[in-house]
Amino acid sequence: MKLSVFQSADLAANYVCELLVDRIKVFPSSVLGLATGGTTVPLYNALVKSFREGEVSFAQATTFNLDEYIGLPEGHVQSYRCFMNTHLFNIVDIKQCRIHFPDVTAENLSEAGLAYDRLIEDAGSIDFQLLGIGRNGHIGFNEPDASFDAASGIRELSETTRADNQRFFTAGESVPSHALSMSIDQILKARKIVLMATGFRKADALARLFSSQYKLESFPASALIDHHNVEIVCDSEAAINLDLAGHEVVCC
Ligand code: GLP
Repeated sequence: MKLSVFQSADLAANYVCELLVDRIKVFPSSVLGLATGGTTVPLYNALVKSFREGEVSFAQATTFNLDEYIGLPEGHVQSYRCFMNTHLFNIVDIKQCRIHFPDVTAENLSEAGLAYDRLIEDAGSIDFQLLGIGRNGHIGFNEPDASFDAASGIRELSETTRADNQRFFTAGESVPSHALSMSIDQILKARKIVLMATGFRKADALARLFSSQYKLESFPASALIDHHNVEIVCDSEAAINLDLAGHEVVCC
């Protein structure tokens, strides 16, 4: 795994923005796997800036978001669709028909997960997958102890994740208990994976990922160790516990 450590979360985000913009410039019809969460906000701000400055166009890009909460009313401000609309999709020139989320309105949610996998495969799989990481090592909403071989589908959120994400919801409103998530198996089919981690809160999870020698379903991000093209991009706070010996590291 390649590691790039930056002095601040904004610098880390600017770097991931450059990676994405460079990719889209060379391959305008790229298939992008997108993530949500606080970590990604500075990245989407940087992408919007690049778009406004005429550096990049999303007109031919296709996107697949990692996950969506089950049970929120349509248009709920904390739905991941709403997050993406606010931070990126409503601002840039992406075509609505090329934006994809797991369909949490479907009658049969398990079938909707399988349909999402088929859609991704029909699009030729993901070229560039962006990931965040949960404090418990979740990627997407694939929580500890979910099978690495499971198809995309319904996931039960852990108590840690629900507590962490409560900060985005208003008092008295609870985080949904379930989500539809892209599977680990599907994430691993991406040609390039960039995992972002910023802030002291992520230091333990990042250190555990970085020192993982075996894939353990109890720590979902460890599935990434077998992928040939993973880059971790973090700030110095998230990197504080890393043992960098023997790794390719870029520090900026
Ligand atoms: C959610 C998302 C994950 C994301 C994680 C980290 O649980 N499902 O895809 O990686 O949050 O969020 P944050 O960046 O807010 O710490």
